Amino acid sequence: PVEERVRDLLGRMTLREKIGQMLQLDARTNLDDTVLNKTAGSILHTSPDDLPRANELVQATRLRIPLLVGDDLIHGYSFYPGATIFPEQLGMAVSWDAAKIERAAKITAREAVTTGVQWTFSPVLDAARDTRWGRVGETFGEDPYLIGELASAMVRGYQGGSLTGEATLGKKNILATAKHFAGYSETQGGRDASEADLSRRKLTSWLLPPFERVAKEGIGTFMLGYESIEGVPITLNKWLLNDVLRDKWGYTGTLITDWANVSRLVWEQRVLPNPVLAAVAAVRAGNDLIMTSPEFYDAAYEAVERGLLTEDELDAPVSRILALKFRLGLFEDPRLPDAAAAKKVIGNAAHSAANLDLTRESVALLRNDGTLPLPHKAHKVALIGPLIDDAQTQLGDWAGNSGQVSWMPDGHPRSTITTVQDGFERLMPHDWTLTTAEGARIVDLVPDPAGEFYPDGQPRPYVGQSAPVDDALIREAVAKAQAADVAVVVVGDVIQLIGEGCSTATLELLGGQNALLDAVIATDTPTVVVLMSSKPQILPDSVLHDAAALLWAPSPGMKGGQAIAEIIMGMVSPSGRLPISFPRHAGQLPVYYNQIRGQHGDRYADLTQDPAFAFGEGLSYTTFSYGDVRFENVTREVESVEDVDTSVWTMGSADAQDESDAPAVMIPAYGHDDTVRVSIDVTNTGSLKGVEVVQAYIGDLVTSVSWTNRELKAFQRVELAAGETRTVTFEIPVSACSIVDAEANRVVENGEFEVLLGHSSRRRDLKRAVFAVTD
Ligand code: IFM
Repeated sequence: PVEERVRDLLGRMTLREKIGQMLQLDARTNLDDTVLNKTAGSILHTSPDDLPRANELVQATRLRIPLLVGDDLIHGYSFYPGATIFPEQLGMAVSWDAAKIERAAKITAREAVTTGVQWTFSPVLDAARDTRWGRVGETFGEDPYLIGELASAMVRGYQGGSLTGEATLGKKNILATAKHFAGYSETQGGRDASEADLSRRKLTSWLLPPFERVAKEGIGTFMLGYESIEGVPITLNKWLLNDVLRDKWGYTGTLITDWANVSRLVWEQRVLPNPVLAAVAAVRAGNDLIMTSPEFYDAAYEAVERGLLTEDELDAPVSRILALKFRLGLFEDPRLPDAAAAKKVIGNAAHSAANLDLTRESVALLRNDGTLPLPHKAHKVALIGPLIDDAQTQLGDWAGNSGQVSWMPDGHPRSTITTVQDGFERLMPHDWTLTTAEGARIVDLVPDPAGEFYPDGQPRPYVGQSAPVDDALIREAVAKAQAADVAVVVVGDVIQLIGEGCSTATLELLGGQNALLDAVIATDTPTVVVLMSSKPQILPDSVLHDAAALLWAPSPGMKGGQAIAEIIMGMVSPSGRLPISFPRHAGQLPVYYNQIRGQHGDRYADLTQDPAFAFGEGLSYTTFSYGDVRFENVTREVESVEDVDTSVWTMGSADAQDESDAPAVMIPAYGHDDTVRVSIDVTNTGSLKGVEVVQAYIGDLVTSVSWTNRELKAFQRVELAAGETRTVTFEIPVSACSIVDAEANRVVENGEFEVLLGHSSRRRDLKRAVFAVTD
């Protein structure tokens, strides 16, 4: 049994060896020193070429405890040239397709194991509610249920199953990480890693549920965020680490800090005066692996020598790390790189096909006046914009080529990436013609004066400044648009301005992009706008009101250009839906759909409260209609007493109550252990086949605390032929209809609930029925 093996090995280890196991060190610095002298337990950011050497070094250590090799395989094995790079997480989330996301993670695992990497720091479970945050593109969007569903699928894909107790990791699987625990996305002003002024109630209600789910499903590791909550840096937050994660959720896996978190306690957050006391505090707070704080090695040793920490206190984290290594089977098979297998597996045709399949679903059509799909008659297409052929931006962050990384200077081979221009050139009928124009530049890169932002690593060499409008570029683009039958304009953010440490104050399209869009849309040529930004951006009125069509493809990866071209040309019908709302103005943030209800005056006087596009929205090339909501498992009914239709915003809108002689309205009643089974008929009313994502929301009509009107509880992707009607059935456990009460407990309160089924989170897109929950 794992426990016995851990006890035996631990008993043979010196204090130095124990502390070494807790270190995760950056393998780029000095591999020999890292592995051999510090007997480090884990390395990250290892160049694939260095892994065989790392394992040789382990063999030269006294106990030959194998290394845990981790890396950021965020949407594919980012740093391995030619590996399959999928859309970034937000792009994957546009698909609302858990099965395909699971398959993508499985492929990433298959590719990674051939290279000797056993562990990915993925998925990200942070909810993206302040979209100024630079890492929004790394998330599954704004909704806790959607995040939980997709993250759970991704973990299954990586790990193949739970990693608790005696469970072992399959040879073709890798370890997953739930990150960043917790509240990292809710920092001040969207600025990365700043203080998060978060209540425990907010965490419990909206931010922790996806983490709880994967903890209970047996994810192998948790990674902390960078921020402080209630003034306590996450690294020392005993409430979160011990009370919630370990005690309440019963999590037995391993916890890793984020980059240099223990060092930061001293030199950045300044809550401790020196590394020795920081080491003591970090161990006592419940951390296991200490990422890239190398001074922990001597500091923890000194703490034990000086009697500030006992060796016994180190045994708990070290045992968890060793248990993980046993569960991974590393002592029997250190999972060395296998060059022949890598050649066969990495980026192979089957993986590439699966990538394209997911990417096609990762594009959302947000506006269409009927211009799309382009008809099959001969066309002159003007392809315009700074991102028509920008392979790096299309791949997205964590793809071996952003401002973040320096050890894969050549990035992925250009031949493995299909840009939008490549897509058109390859797929256009022979009698179509294509002209191209840059139209605008986005940013100018200027030397970064603030090198101290990355004191422990390499400073970013530049910052991006919005580029000036270039009239000559715009004139050229307009002339090409005027000479064409259709203009396709590809705009967005750029790789240098997204990601960790790259939050933005503005969400507007930078550089000359708005001027370009205004000018091209003002021509008589129908203009299709492709927004290839990593996260929602603020779109100019010309796009919102006058563009012929609008597609959003967030960091769509290697196959992005092909999927976009196929959709525009009608080879594929778009099926993406928004996992995140689009604001109209950055000052309107946050705009997520499930905000706390009913504060009169909760609006801006100069702007509609509405988002530009709401959570769940997305069009197809066909149309759908919905029947009425039907309960399928009604065994008893009660009289409705409090039916308040949340779409009615007049005071005292409890319509059923006031009419004393109206007949009693009977509604289905369910007990707390029941499941509500509810159906709706969906019809494809158009002339093309298409996919509808049927969404199920629940609203508790009257709650003991302020709560939201509706929350997503289930969804299904259904493909319907033209004219076809399908009955879609959801099973929603009553236990899922909970709120967080005033004492911060999750409870289901007796009373009436509405179930809302339909096309998006917008009330007008949903059909409604009411049920009661009683004892
Ligand atoms: O995994 C990442 C994390 O998301 C942000 N900081 C660095 C880690 C390791 O690269």
